[in-house]
Amino acid sequence: MSRKTTLQQDIVIEARSVDRRFSIGGHDITALAPVNIAVRRGELFVITGSSGSGKSTLLNLLSGLDRPSSGEVFFKGTSLSSINERILAGLRNNDFGFIFQTPHLLPDKTIFENVALPFRYGDIVDPELWRNRCLELLGYVGLSHLKERYPDTLSGGEMQRVVFARALSREPEIIFADEPTGSLDAENSTRLMTLLREQTRQGRTVIMVSHDAEAIAYGSKTLLLDKFNPGKTTAS
Ligand SMILES: Nc1ncnc2c1ncn2[C@@H]1O[C@H](COP(=O)(O)OP(=O)(O)OP(=O)(O)O)[C@@H](O)[C@H]1O
Ligand SMILES: [Mg+2]
Repeated sequence: MSRKTTLQQDIVIEARSVDRRFSIGGHDITALAPVNIAVRRGELFVITGSSGSGKSTLLNLLSGLDRPSSGEVFFKGTSLSSINERILAGLRNNDFGFIFQTPHLLPDKTIFENVALPFRYGDIVDPELWRNRCLELLGYVGLSHLKERYPDTLSGGEMQRVVFARALSREPEIIFADEPTGSLDAENSTRLMTLLREQTRQGRTVIMVSHDAEAIAYGSKTLLLDKFNPGKTTAS
């Protein structure tokens, strides 16, 4: 296999001239000017920039939660615009894990049930396997002792670790995280970032939006979106 082919296979997500525009009351709004990126397996790819520069918009396009106005997003070479909503939903559930700024947990489910939620949808997994996997993940994030509790009895940092365990439950290829440390103190931020980096060492890819300097420092690559200079992106 040539080196070029190997490198191309390493790319898990690629965005080609992807942009997003909205029309509100006859006015065109550019939420994201065209962006080109290629993210390799095992990278901790950071998207940063000022408020309103299009970070969340880009993350939503890369993760298939939203569709671009023009351009295309490819997951392992397959264009997300070439697959229907049902297949895309399956892909999001099986291959992608999500962490948002504020933890979204179902209040009437226990911590264990929240972590196990992705197994209620998509491809069927043997119950013993997924139960063990969820227990193992709760141990990994240091919350085994809270598995029977309900979300409203947890601290913000604990909740974010539950979300992290849930994001990993189906052993996703990619973890998408939008300001995952935004509501955490320094200690919990470090803890979460260490866990995220550990995942990249296991071959997963993390795509994270952040403007927290400490979190950004964990990145292997950074894309800076510039609201005042649309279309100009700086990668480092
Ligand atoms: N559904 C929408 N309709 C209209 N405008 C939108 C929509 N979504 C986002 N925008 C606009 O697009 C721009 C980029 O929004 P986005 O949420 O991606 O910013 P961001 O970089 O994530 O900002 P923050 O750091 O504040 O989260 C903003 O000016 C926003 O108002
Ligand atoms: Mg945002």
